[in-house]
Amino acid sequence: MQPPFRQWNRREYLALLGAGVAPWPARANAESASLRALGSQAGIIFGTSAGLQNYNDEAYRALVLKQAAILTPENSLKFGELRPDEKTFAFADGDAMLAFAKANGLAMRGHTLIWNEWLPEWLKSAPSAKLPYLLDRHIETVMTHYAGKLQSWDVVNEPFVAWGNDPGGFRPGPWYSALGPDYIFRAFQRAGAADPNTKLVLNEAWTERSDIYGLAVRKSLLRLIDQIKDKGLRIDAIGLQAHLDPRISYDDASFVDFLHELEARGLAIYLTELDILDASFPGSFAERDQMAADRVYSFLQHALSVKAVGMVVCWGLSDRYTWFRDPSVMTALKTTRLPRALPYDDNLQPKPMREAIARAFLERKL
Ligand code: XIL
Repeated sequence: MQPPFRQWNRREYLALLGAGVAPWPARANAESASLRALGSQAGIIFGTSAGLQNYNDEAYRALVLKQAAILTPENSLKFGELRPDEKTFAFADGDAMLAFAKANGLAMRGHTLIWNEWLPEWLKSAPSAKLPYLLDRHIETVMTHYAGKLQSWDVVNEPFVAWGNDPGGFRPGPWYSALGPDYIFRAFQRAGAADPNTKLVLNEAWTERSDIYGLAVRKSLLRLIDQIKDKGLRIDAIGLQAHLDPRISYDDASFVDFLHELEARGLAIYLTELDILDASFPGSFAERDQMAADRVYSFLQHALSVKAVGMVVCWGLSDRYTWFRDPSVMTALKTTRLPRALPYDDNLQPKPMREAIARAFLERKL
């Protein structure tokens, strides 16, 4: 049982301070301090994904600039966006986001080079024999374009599946069909050569759950990392998406064991897409939000006990923009109520989840 999440009072702040390193009030005032500042004090780069539509929402933009230290373009750098046809590299959106980040003192991540999803039709119908060339050319061109400008790149996204008869098996798709698991090694090899200065990340979903699928994906991931390293290829970090779904069994203590296994392999750990599906929570907004906060708090408190965890990126900051509200995603996730998945509500007001994140940062002992 985890202790329930609750508001903390001044006495508790002071107790924390006694154990802490930074002076009052910077460390103590979790409500007025930004998540960016609280994260930084805890050795965490805190950030959010961002979509182009967010630029036009002035209030949201201000929230992002206040709270985030790093941005992940939600879709702009995906193959399907960048490559409307074989000849084109449509960098305009990604470049605009990078300019925005740079002008405002934010870092940016690259998401994502090679993924068996979000691919254009022309790639899906390209002859298999051509895929190695297309993979190389994509990685080299895109990474060269952004060389030295991005904090990290998700080189390969979601290599494994958490469904079907082969839990933890490789995700099917054009790259896998043409090259087998070699598509992953090849991607890391090319990425390492194209930009020696950005962190190379293997990004995956599912590992936060502890049903047979989550456990199988953890195992597959550890094996894959060992293989990447055995081949002498560079991999700097593992990205764990952290789309929490409390309908599925979880066990934060065993997740911590898994994080230690990653840490033992010398990898940094990034939590890359944190949000929570509240479909199973009953009752009013207040009850739902509190239960979401409790879950997020416990998850982060456990994860942050592992030193290698150095980044927490939410998949959006306000419920206004959660991807869970996409009608097709709601159908896939079997939820009919509008999800409230993020630390700020539709009116950009902080929710208990915001305090849960702040508190987990504040309490981290490094
Ligand atoms: C999602 C975006 O948020 C949506 O806007 C888009 O329609 C689908 O993709 N795992 C990932 C992300 O790695 O790229 C996905 O982003 C969410 C799941």
